[in-house]
Amino acid sequence: MGDILVRGGVPLHGAVQVSGSKNAALPILVAALLNEQPVTLRNVPALKDVDVTAQVLRSLGAHCDCCAGGTVTVDAGSIDSTEPPYELVNQMRASFLVLGPLLARFGEARVPLPGGCEIGVRPVGEHLAAMRALGAEISQEAGTIHAIAPSKRLSGAEIYFDKASVGATENAVMAATLADGVSTLHNAALEPEVVDLCHFLTRCGVRIDGVGTKTITVHGQPRLSAAIDYTIIPDRIEAGTYLLALAGTGGEGTVHGARPDHLEALTLKLREAGVAVDFGEDWIEVRAGQPLRALQITTDVYPGFPTDLQAQMTAVLCHAEGYSTVRETIFESRLRHVAELLRMGAAISISGDTAIISGRAGEMVGARVQAHDLRCAASLVIAGLMATGETRIDGLRYLLRGYENLPQKIAGIGGHVEFSSVNVEA
Ligand code: EPZ
Repeated sequence: MGDILVRGGVPLHGAVQVSGSKNAALPILVAALLNEQPVTLRNVPALKDVDVTAQVLRSLGAHCDCCAGGTVTVDAGSIDSTEPPYELVNQMRASFLVLGPLLARFGEARVPLPGGCEIGVRPVGEHLAAMRALGAEISQEAGTIHAIAPSKRLSGAEIYFDKASVGATENAVMAATLADGVSTLHNAALEPEVVDLCHFLTRCGVRIDGVGTKTITVHGQPRLSAAIDYTIIPDRIEAGTYLLALAGTGGEGTVHGARPDHLEALTLKLREAGVAVDFGEDWIEVRAGQPLRALQITTDVYPGFPTDLQAQMTAVLCHAEGYSTVRETIFESRLRHVAELLRMGAAISISGDTAIISGRAGEMVGARVQAHDLRCAASLVIAGLMATGETRIDGLRYLLRGYENLPQKIAGIGGHVEFSSVNVEA
């Protein structure tokens, strides 16, 4: 299993450039299936999940070229399959997003149910309910969802989500773009990545009202055929991870290319902890100064505190002065980093969905730990940078899913992280 080696105990200083957003790039790559003309995407991060998504598109007959410098071209003019292979969908649940585009464009799709993962069961009932509302007939055969649109066309509809879901909103918006008539999505997710997908679809020729609100109206088109060139937004979770690394190590530095408006929940909490925060149009600067003050954190849908920064914040609060609480409300098992932080000397207890952290500056010491998912891995990298000594993290494959050039970026702010080359995929 590939490892991550971290040498800690040094305050980080300097500047880091954020990459394009993984969670915007994945749905937008899939949305290219709706367009009969070639699409050029820029600022696409070089990540394992992007590679898997490109493989999914190719498995359906699309041409997908990942060029240097973050440019990816997709030509979905000659799709010859509406059934992505199990071994790809099972690798990455975002592959389930092909359901909406394939069903909308071709009137049928067979998509394996995505597995659960380390952070929860992650059902797809909201996705399927939206497809049914658009007129699809849905059945499940041997772990695969079979969706059919009567007479090959979906019909515009009112869609009500019981639970705000990023993926279900994205699947429904994509399906609605080629439905006959108008669709209105109620209780939609309004994360920046959903907004970026809507902006991409608008450039493809779809009229979408209410973008960035909980009520999105999509005016269906007969077909999409527009050769476009689109640039992905910066990755707010990557940016937040580096801001937390700078603050957690007692350092100071600037994350360039970030959107401050995408990270207000984090920057407000950092200020509450005593971190000096400044920002401009496309940069955010933090200066930690004295030991951090304890915080009470509850994750929530956007614009609340993001669940994808919860594990990283938990690590940082291990060195805050006093008792902090971190409550995870989005996923049912996203506190597994706590057991690993305990191995590093942190003082944390868990009560239900809440971690109670007794923070003391200088508390953590490097150890051998195990990453269980992408953001757990990021949390342990931050803990390793904060701890004295060396930390070896098992589970490099998780980190490679979501962080581009992490060792180089950490070195740029004075830290030391290296990857062992042994058997990364295991
Ligand atoms: C997206 O996952 C992100 N992934 C996740 O980031 C992120 O944590 C999550 O949104 C929440 O912000 C991508 O964008 C590729 P959800 P998604 O549907 O769409 C429940 C990372 O680390 N739910 O908003 O799968 C679900 O179980 C990843 O980059 C249903 O109950 O998340 C969860 O408890 C991890 N039924 C909650 O809703 C459904 O049909 C939020 O899930 C769908 C979801």
